[in-house]
Amino acid sequence: MYGRLQVVKKYVHYYFTAASGKGHGIHSPFIYDFVTNVLCDRRQFYPYEAIESLREDLLKDKTLLDIEDFGAGSAIRSTKQRSIASIARNAAKNKKLCRLLFRMVHYYQPQTIVELGTSLGISSAYMASANQAANVITIEGASSVAAAAKRNHEILQLNNIQGITGKFEDKLPLILQQVEKLDLAFVDGNHRLQPTKNYFEQLLTKATPQSILVFDDIHWSKEMEEAWRIIQQHDRVTASIDLFFLGIILFRPEFRSKQQFTIRF
Ligand SMILES: C[S@@+](CC[C@H](N)C(=O)[O-])C[C@H]1O[C@@H](n2cnc3c(N)ncnc32)[C@H](O)[C@@H]1O
Repeated sequence: MYGRLQVVKKYVHYYFTAASGKGHGIHSPFIYDFVTNVLCDRRQFYPYEAIESLREDLLKDKTLLDIEDFGAGSAIRSTKQRSIASIARNAAKNKKLCRLLFRMVHYYQPQTIVELGTSLGISSAYMASANQAANVITIEGASSVAAAAKRNHEILQLNNIQGITGKFEDKLPLILQQVEKLDLAFVDGNHRLQPTKNYFEQLLTKATPQSILVFDDIHWSKEMEEAWRIIQQHDRVTASIDLFFLGIILFRPEFRSKQQFTIRF
């Protein structure tokens, strides 16, 4: 993991070299449409309030959970206690990124969504509430955290989320066997080179030209930058969008030669 100063330096470089977040100078119709209708959509959608109110409650919740630490990889390194408040503060994606995921689901209407890394269920709640007809399958290794996410989804009355408890390594292949195709995936856990490459390769088996893969924290560490670079260059990938905290991978045929966009967000 990079130090804070290094990330700030990288962010400053990104900010000043990225294309305008208003779409100026972007010639690809798909990317221009993404920027104007998804990235810049400032509307307040009605599910936002309930999810953020739940997040507020979680941030105050001192309940301790025994959790297996999956952070550094697939092997459980240790079990420790963490409060729900601390998990909500450190693991859940912030409002801005969650709302972007919401808008992507709202705009592109993916039917089958797979998330790697449920945590307390905030980002999955955003995606599920953006399209009640979508099926959101989300995987979490820490069983007590997965149980808390299930409760949170019940509070929000979301019936289109399938929470799967187990390691990504064990559960992802089984899930992919069961789905016909994958419309959207959000990879938000185990940010290391080899696992990220493996998840990508597995997700590819069910990707279609319309699929969208979203990777979290692509500039978090040398390993993640390497993983992002390898994924961007994969033969089947036709375009990528670097939003600094998230990276988006596309397979759409309209990008005749591979294109890499860096857009301010
Ligand atoms: C950053 S959090 C996910 C946050 C969530 N997407 C949100 O924004 O609300 C990542 C989660 O992935 C889980 N995780 C990490 N590596 C894993 C693995 N190999 N298998 C299963 N779960 C894993 C961790 O336990 C953690 O809860």
